[in-house]
Amino acid sequence: MHQPRSVLVTGGAGFIGSNFLLALVPRYPKVQFVNLDLLTYAGNLLNLQSIEDAPNYTFVHGDIADADLVRQLFDEHRFDTVVHFAAESHVDRSILDPLAFVRTNVVGTATLLEAARQAWGDRDDVRFHHVSTDEVFGSLGDTGAFDEATPYDPRSPYSASKAGSDHLARAYHHTYGLPVTISNCSNNYGPFQFPEKLVPLVIRNAAAGEPLPVYGRGKNTRDWLHVADHVDALDLILREGQTGETYAIGGRAERRNIEVVETLADLVDEHLGRAPGTARDLITFVTDRPGHDWRYAMDPAKIERTLNWRPAHSFEAGLRETVGWYLDNAEWLDAVADASYRDYYATQYDAR
Ligand code: NAD
Ligand code: TYD
Repeated sequence: MHQPRSVLVTGGAGFIGSNFLLALVPRYPKVQFVNLDLLTYAGNLLNLQSIEDAPNYTFVHGDIADADLVRQLFDEHRFDTVVHFAAESHVDRSILDPLAFVRTNVVGTATLLEAARQAWGDRDDVRFHHVSTDEVFGSLGDTGAFDEATPYDPRSPYSASKAGSDHLARAYHHTYGLPVTISNCSNNYGPFQFPEKLVPLVIRNAAAGEPLPVYGRGKNTRDWLHVADHVDALDLILREGQTGETYAIGGRAERRNIEVVETLADLVDEHLGRAPGTARDLITFVTDRPGHDWRYAMDPAKIERTLNWRPAHSFEAGLRETVGWYLDNAEWLDAVADASYRDYYATQYDAR
């Protein structure tokens, strides 16, 4: 069992990091949490308003690739735990600007690992958890699922940079004995996700009467997990996971993209009291993403068996709750979808 006392959370103003902090800061009032986040377009302190004054929470605005800053934070806060979320996370953006992904995901992760190694020496009462994705395993055909033994085969600049960061984390464990754990999770959905990703983008556009862009023919498949279930898995791994181990996390909820978009469209109509089918009429098939991975599916048998983790949300109930959240938090959507978002969105449409 690992008992965190002073935790460095990187990327805590983003989607999954903020859900992690919103859950764990109140759950563990005796544990200190420091959130290091650069506040890129994807990070927003609005996400963290309900904990910003908590006595066990501190925000630091900065870059994980800034070695001096990271070293200074280790000195000041005597971290015994790192939970590393910070990343450039959107595949489409990685196609437009791959080097930003190498810098943050590869160089940034290496900077954190090195700071942890320097600060911790050969201590074994410490833990570095690296948060990663199923996309490092590549693309599945119509059958089968990824698990912890699947060979790496990343195919986008995003997944290649995440694969590089996973390899570095594992190398620090094998070479220096750094107490590392890694998790590879499937696609998350839930509150506070930046509306460039499929679920919030479709909810936003359906509500606004704008086109719902479906890449290719909409037959690509993703395996969906509510972010709160991912957060609970991470909390378990941090405390009870074995160092040097990898955990595959997923909700056994595979859906084709078109099914997800149609379900979201119907839920938005229902929530807004509109005639059924109104939002489905907005579905627009657009040019496919280059190198678009066909199918992802995760086999979470190991974390179910060894840590007794089970997701609490079914996909249908989770998606319904998520649609309600975005429509009830329209001011959050407006605030994060600022001018830079609109510029990016315009480029995406030009490209098609
Ligand atoms: P996100 O894009 O919503 O948030 C990323 C956060 O990192 C933002 O707050 C951003 O400001 C911050 N950040 C970016 N560059 C930084 C830097 N150089 N220094 C400090 N902070 C920086 O991402 P997310 O969806 O919350 O994903 C979090 C992590 O989980 C990522 O590592 C991602 O690869 C992984 N992951 C995501 C999913 C998913 O479905 N979203 C699934 C599996 C794994
Ligand atoms: P996304 O949310 O970008 O996650 P990822 O690419 O990391 O899986 O996309 C999820 C799926 O939805 C993916 O197959 C691409 C597709 N997609 C669309 O069809 N239209 C869109 O506008 C977006 C953003 C994604």
